[in-house]
Amino acid sequence: CGIIGAVGRGVETLDVLVHGLSKLEYRGYDSAGVALADESVDICKKAGEIDELRGALEGRSIDGSVGIGHTRWSTHGPPTDENAHPHQDCSSDVAVVHNGIIENYQELRDELAAAGHTFRSDTDTEVVPHLVEDALRGGADPEAAVRSAVGRLEGSYAVAVVIAGVDRIFAARNDSPLVLGIDDDAYYLASDVPAFRDHTDRVVYLDDGEFTVLGPDGWRVTTLAGEPVEKTVDTVDWDPEETGKSGYDHYMLKEIHEQPRSLRQSLSERVDELGGSVDIGELADLNPRGVQFVAAGTSYHAALYGAELFRQAGIPAQAFRSSEFATSPPPIGDALVIGVTQSGETADTLSALREAQRRGARTLGVTNVVGSTVARESDHVFYIRAGPEIGVAATKTFASQLASLNLLALGMTSTDGTREIISSLRDLPGQVQEVLDGSAAREVADTYAASDAYFFIGRGLNYPVALEGALKMKEITYKHAEGFAAGGLKHGPLALVTDQTPVFAVVTGDDELAQKTIGNVKEVEARDAPVIAVTDGKSDVERYADHVLRIPEAHPRTAAVLANVQLQLVSYHTASILGRSIDKPRNLAKSVTVE
Ligand code: G6P
Repeated sequence: CGIIGAVGRGVETLDVLVHGLSKLEYRGYDSAGVALADESVDICKKAGEIDELRGALEGRSIDGSVGIGHTRWSTHGPPTDENAHPHQDCSSDVAVVHNGIIENYQELRDELAAAGHTFRSDTDTEVVPHLVEDALRGGADPEAAVRSAVGRLEGSYAVAVVIAGVDRIFAARNDSPLVLGIDDDAYYLASDVPAFRDHTDRVVYLDDGEFTVLGPDGWRVTTLAGEPVEKTVDTVDWDPEETGKSGYDHYMLKEIHEQPRSLRQSLSERVDELGGSVDIGELADLNPRGVQFVAAGTSYHAALYGAELFRQAGIPAQAFRSSEFATSPPPIGDALVIGVTQSGETADTLSALREAQRRGARTLGVTNVVGSTVARESDHVFYIRAGPEIGVAATKTFASQLASLNLLALGMTSTDGTREIISSLRDLPGQVQEVLDGSAAREVADTYAASDAYFFIGRGLNYPVALEGALKMKEITYKHAEGFAAGGLKHGPLALVTDQTPVFAVVTGDDELAQKTIGNVKEVEARDAPVIAVTDGKSDVERYADHVLRIPEAHPRTAAVLANVQLQLVSYHTASILGRSIDKPRNLAKSVTVE
């Protein structure tokens, strides 16, 4: 879910809120709403995407100098108008938006209902305005009322509150991100910077347990108990254009095409080709004797790749799905636990890292989002610097994760062939550009868009690429797609292979791995499956392929990144031919903040 708030002199509050919500839609988009306060609180909220809200706002006079808004991804109660945020108390004087889950909401709801409060929605959030109302009735001033309400909540939250007759926004965070935007005479509040980036580049990241008050004259941050907290104002350096589609039909396509630039950014100042070394700062001293990766979704595939890099350097390393690690952790010993997460907010990954910390492990967060919860909670952090990614399906951040994991593995271990790897990393952005310029992915998508299912196979570093190719395909085309370790195909999945199931074989180089994968290609070819080879042309896999997606010759590590770009394009074009909602696939959210 996404929160936005705005207050200030001369601010067109409603416009700022709706615009901010459109920038936050990637966080959730099943319903949206706004509340504006002056002497009374006006609310407008609607199930559906932001456009539904825009429609509902047309012709309505809804006014106020201070406002909050919300775009939702349901956790309690289906996406309906009633369940959309903001939520109100009985007297409709208090409005609240909330991200996260209030774990003790049933208990609070029973208590409030017994005291005569009536509820209008099925959400956990609705207890908050009623708690505030109760405190106000009890004589508390507005700020104290919100503090006491927030103090009753257990679970994860970012909440923002407006109250009739009060020209302030009150907000608090625990386990769910909130950032302030500071302008000369206006103040903003949001789950993420793009929501107000068009208005200001000065930001203040709130930490867990903090409470903030924004008014027309300024902002302050305290602990929930009211102790003042010194905060620093940071400046974000990416421009608002980066959060628009820049002429592409979809954010996803834009982000696929941004990869040469985002990769350059990930690598810049961190590789010294002449010296044959990488610079990862203090992280080089970590000296891990073992590494355990925790991650979810696409980041899990990056983690599988990262684990292989450490193993190649002789360091025992494994990748775990963070949801499994959190609930049934393996023995950690003295391993370094690395959480790979684009958003830095994925609840499963946060839990896994916290579990690792509880067990005494050192943790390293590898993330794209500066100031994210993982960045702040981990003992160490490494930013992948891919820039904001809006498309729900991760693309450029996956490429930057792979590049970053190379830097970390090289910087923390002594890896054979370091100089060669560094030079291939330096070549990578240009080679990605070559793939983008000459890809036959559109043709492949045209040929196979009507297929029943798609399979992806690869070995070694190309195994995570096969998994990622399949994940991308299912996320945005809604077609059945599976990735397999090429050698695993014959142990079951082969039964699914027919002439209606194209098989994408990722075969790079011409070593034993490649030859074995070609053996597997022959197995599917014998079952009449169309074969699409993603290859650098070093082996003879093309002889067995119906289509070829060519990548430049590269080191096996960077070849995996290049092959993945081809598969991103195939999924994108297939989804586009099928008319899917590419940037916002059904049932999925960019970052999942519940376990
Ligand atoms: C969600 C998204 C995936 C993403 C995963 C992990 O499931 O839909 O695209 O890969 O979360 O996200 P993270 O931010 O932790 O990388």
